[in-house]
Amino acid sequence: MRVEAANLIKMVRDDGRNFMLEHEAKAVLKSYGIPVTQDIFCKTPDEAVRAARKIGYPVAMKIVSPQIIHKTEFGGVRLNLASDENVKSAFDEMVSNARKRLGNFDLRGVLVCEMARGHEMIIGSMKDAQFGQMIMFGIGGINVEVFKDVSYRIVPIEEIDALEMISELKGKKLIEGYRGSEKVDINGIVSTLIAVSRLLCDFDEIEEMDLNPIFGNARGVKVADARIILSKVNS
Ligand SMILES: Nc1ncnc2c1ncn2[C@@H]1O[C@H](COP(=O)(O)OP(=O)(O)OP(=O)(O)O)[C@@H](O)[C@H]1O
Ligand SMILES: [Mg+2]
Repeated sequence: MRVEAANLIKMVRDDGRNFMLEHEAKAVLKSYGIPVTQDIFCKTPDEAVRAARKIGYPVAMKIVSPQIIHKTEFGGVRLNLASDENVKSAFDEMVSNARKRLGNFDLRGVLVCEMARGHEMIIGSMKDAQFGQMIMFGIGGINVEVFKDVSYRIVPIEEIDALEMISELKGKKLIEGYRGSEKVDINGIVSTLIAVSRLLCDFDEIEEMDLNPIFGNARGVKVADARIILSKVNS
């Protein structure tokens, strides 16, 4: 896992970047056994249609460009596309939306992704000047953004730490099946937190990570969007 992730990081550095595109970041996660949505990188509308058929409708689509960090802001995310026609037109619309804002931009392609479902959660990382790599966990959307209901640990973490990170959240009831809402596979969250911690320990050059959202349901968890920022200089 370490070698594969190191190769991916090197590829990004060789491309003159210190941030990984979504599919690159997800490949790093996958190499650490972290479940991610099934995504296929495509360069043409026809390729996107073939990918969507392979994944199975409905699908999500996202633009891939080093000039676009927050894809939604550029009209670069489409959800619940249910037909070949929808996929083809979404491809063209996303590209022309971005072109309106950026002109002739560096378009690498689009990702066709399986639609994930469940509760939205978030795992993040940041470097603290004093403590080094920190891992963060939150239960998505309003709880994270408005109530700052998140937990932090210094890495490495073990199972007991991961369980505490979950149980100290006020919003934990949401994923424990509160009033008929679907329970989330807690083991899936725990193993994902531990795997992220391992990745952070192996790569001190990871400056910041944002896995947001991660969808969780009774069957498991899946990372639906991932951003990894590397240190400016290779450490
Ligand atoms: N594969 C998917 N299945 C279901 N919903 C998805 C999927 N991918 C994205 N979404 C939904 O679309 C939203 C925006 O997607 P995404 O997070 O990839 O875009 P973004 O604009 O780059 O995000 P950010 O706000 O982190 O910059 C997500 O928060 C999620 O609700
Ligand atoms: Mg996101």
